[in-house]
Amino acid sequence: MHQERNKEERVPGDVLTFEEGGYSGAQFTKGLVAGIVRKTAPGIEASGRMQQEFSQNDYFQTPNVKSIGEGFFEMEHIEGAVSAARFVPNCLPRMQESVYTGYCNFILSNCANQQYFPKRLFFKKILQIIAKLKTVEDVRLSERVAYLINGDFKLVNGYCHGDFTLCNILYTKKIDRPYLIDFTPAYVQSPIMDVVKLMQEYKLGWSGRVMKLGEEYKRSMEVLKRVVEASIFFDINNPAHIAVEALNLLRILPYSKSKDMTKLLHTEINKLL
Ligand SMILES: Nc1ncnc2c1ncn2[C@@H]1O[C@H](COP(=O)(O)OP(=O)(O)OP(=O)(O)O)[C@@H](O)[C@H]1O
Ligand SMILES: [Mg+2]
Repeated sequence: MHQERNKEERVPGDVLTFEEGGYSGAQFTKGLVAGIVRKTAPGIEASGRMQQEFSQNDYFQTPNVKSIGEGFFEMEHIEGAVSAARFVPNCLPRMQESVYTGYCNFILSNCANQQYFPKRLFFKKILQIIAKLKTVEDVRLSERVAYLINGDFKLVNGYCHGDFTLCNILYTKKIDRPYLIDFTPAYVQSPIMDVVKLMQEYKLGWSGRVMKLGEEYKRSMEVLKRVVEASIFFDINNPAHIAVEALNLLRILPYSKSKDMTKLLHTEINKLL
């Protein structure tokens, strides 16, 4: 006899489509068990491990990671989750404050580290970038960034989320502590990298350029601006922080798809040299 399928029953492998996100090309499918989602992308296991590690932090929770395998990991599916990017522009000031303090406290706690980032890793990254560059002008520019990095400075080492955008902070009606997702292992493991990325996001509007976002997006950038301005460990005149800024812009250069974008990157990097 045909049995009606239980609502909770899942067909493993069914593709899940979320209303937002998914720009990275990662695929989401249902896990074997109800309430579990599988994220698949090359090398994503490092992201799953970071998500597991960060589950202990005081300011965000992370969807529970159930298993990690080659090119995928499985985690708790947060039903009814909405990203901060969607509600921050129009929410109550109290909610905006909660996003703001979450950001600030997270960065602050990651800076509470007395160790320094090993400089040789900066140079390793520069060499990887140079290998992808196409013009002599770009290579010259990267040599100048290498010179900058060679300066006498120390950069605080520590946890870095790697893609700390509002899209990667999820809320549901039931929770007070938001979820942080989409950990992206960074080539410079320093919380300063998170701050620099936020700053470049609101100054240069990366996501806005890629996703053609409107007024709401601009309003949410105000929160990021406040976070950067409140980050007491970050100083735009600190040579270590300038080096991180330059390296993060240089990293984008090989992927630039237009003359305008290349010109903007050159201008912004030159301002730092
Ligand atoms: N565990 C989860 N529970 C509920 N929704 C989730 C979960 N993981 C991801 N999502 C949804 O999928 C979207 C994309 O997730 P995530 O940021 O991990 O992937 P991504 O492909 O890297 O996306 P993007 O490139 O846009 O950052 C999130 O914004 C969220 O809406
Ligand atoms: Mg994401």
